Amino acid sequence: MALLIKNGEIVTPDARFQGDVLCQGETITAVGTGLAAPDDCDVIDASGKYVFPGFIDPHVHIYLPFMGTYAKDTYETASRAALVGGTTTLIEMVCPGREEDPLEAYELWKSKAAGQSACDYTFHMGVTAYDDGRRELLERIVKDGTASFKIFLAYKGALGIDDTELFSILELARRLGVIVTAHCENAELVAQLQAWLLSQGKTGPEWHEPSRPPSVEGEGVQHLATFAELTGAHTYVVHTSCADALDAARRARRRGVRMWVEAVIPHLVLDHSYTQRPDGSKYVMSPPLREISHQHALWNAVRSGDVHTVATDHAPFDFEAQKQKMGSGDFTKIPNGIPSVEDRVHLLYTHGVATGRIDLHRFVDLVSTRAAQLFGLFPRKGAIQPGADADLVIFDPAYRGTITADKQLMNVDYSAFEGWPLEGRSETVTVRGRVQVRDGKFVGSKDHGELLRREPTHGA
Ligand code: URP
Ligand code: ZN
Ligand code: ZN
Repeated sequence: MALLIKNGEIVTPDARFQGDVLCQGETITAVGTGLAAPDDCDVIDASGKYVFPGFIDPHVHIYLPFMGTYAKDTYETASRAALVGGTTTLIEMVCPGREEDPLEAYELWKSKAAGQSACDYTFHMGVTAYDDGRRELLERIVKDGTASFKIFLAYKGALGIDDTELFSILELARRLGVIVTAHCENAELVAQLQAWLLSQGKTGPEWHEPSRPPSVEGEGVQHLATFAELTGAHTYVVHTSCADALDAARRARRRGVRMWVEAVIPHLVLDHSYTQRPDGSKYVMSPPLREISHQHALWNAVRSGDVHTVATDHAPFDFEAQKQKMGSGDFTKIPNGIPSVEDRVHLLYTHGVATGRIDLHRFVDLVSTRAAQLFGLFPRKGAIQPGADADLVIFDPAYRGTITADKQLMNVDYSAFEGWPLEGRSETVTVRGRVQVRDGKFVGSKDHGELLRREPTHGA
């Protein structure tokens, strides 16, 4: 059946006009005004609504063995939650342990998603250790359509790599033309500061931030930039949280280093004071929530273009049985992460667009188009044009609502944004021409999502 979306305000990073979008099969076949509905066509009147390209979340964790436990979502729960938030494509981090075989890990992560996802998905391949054997396996994984890596400079002894590995991985990435996404915190400094704080009896969640201060993150970005400069690799700094990290990335870009910057929604709307509350472990993630001055710096960078994407770093752990219980008496044991795949776009609209901090074009670029371009999905994704996948969000700016854990689809027992008001929501959401969300509710097919193949686009 065809789908015609009529009279919406179509918005992309560089266009905004009143018009219609015709979808036939899985694809957009026409964009214009006064388009006629073919036979057997579902017609949706989008008057008074925006029509955006489907949103892309380029940084999520769904299957995640981490810090002695497992993240709570499955593809079934996470993809539905993503869709009601307007996100039609997820990019998940494959995070093997250092001893694990990369290819086996890659197949395991793929098996968790196969036939279980309601939205489209693809992966960044985590490289948590490196040698010649792994190089061959990574080349096979790239050939299989997974054209980006993920590395951790943090998490010493778990997922983190050393400098010899860092150099080799970046060199391989440059040769293959794949982009390397990186968690940038100096692992050695974090380990020393954690031990030092604990030895002084500073054990509560409010000490998580002082154990990984902005200078530690700034140093991590600077470190990555030096290696990227010397190898020529293309890099993407994930979950940038502070002015120090932004400055390091700006300096690198100014001298020609290929480096792009991601912010995540928790850092844009929450701050360090939340970890000082009795339920503070809910708000523990890495890099940590910062003092409010860093949040201002982040918003300025989001507006100016020094931040290129807004993702979530969705890492769903329960509050009671995981974050609170496991971290009681030792903040270093709190499973790190704040769930937000359902809320990202609605929070960015409410706190960014509705407040006038960013305009609609910037908004679409941050949550959709730029991620598509950076990760080899454009113009199949992130665009409203003939030939693109019919992934569309009809967004109602007049909607008013409230976030509450009771109503959420994410499989966790809390919301970090409980009771927060929202302005606007993703009312109707399509994935390759199929309506998956109507009136803000998941109504679709639970296995409609496909694994997306991505070719290297970073200039080998
Ligand atoms: O706190 C976080 N960010 N948890 C997920 C793992 C990671 O570092 O991305
Ligand atoms: Zn990380
Ligand atoms: Zn992450």
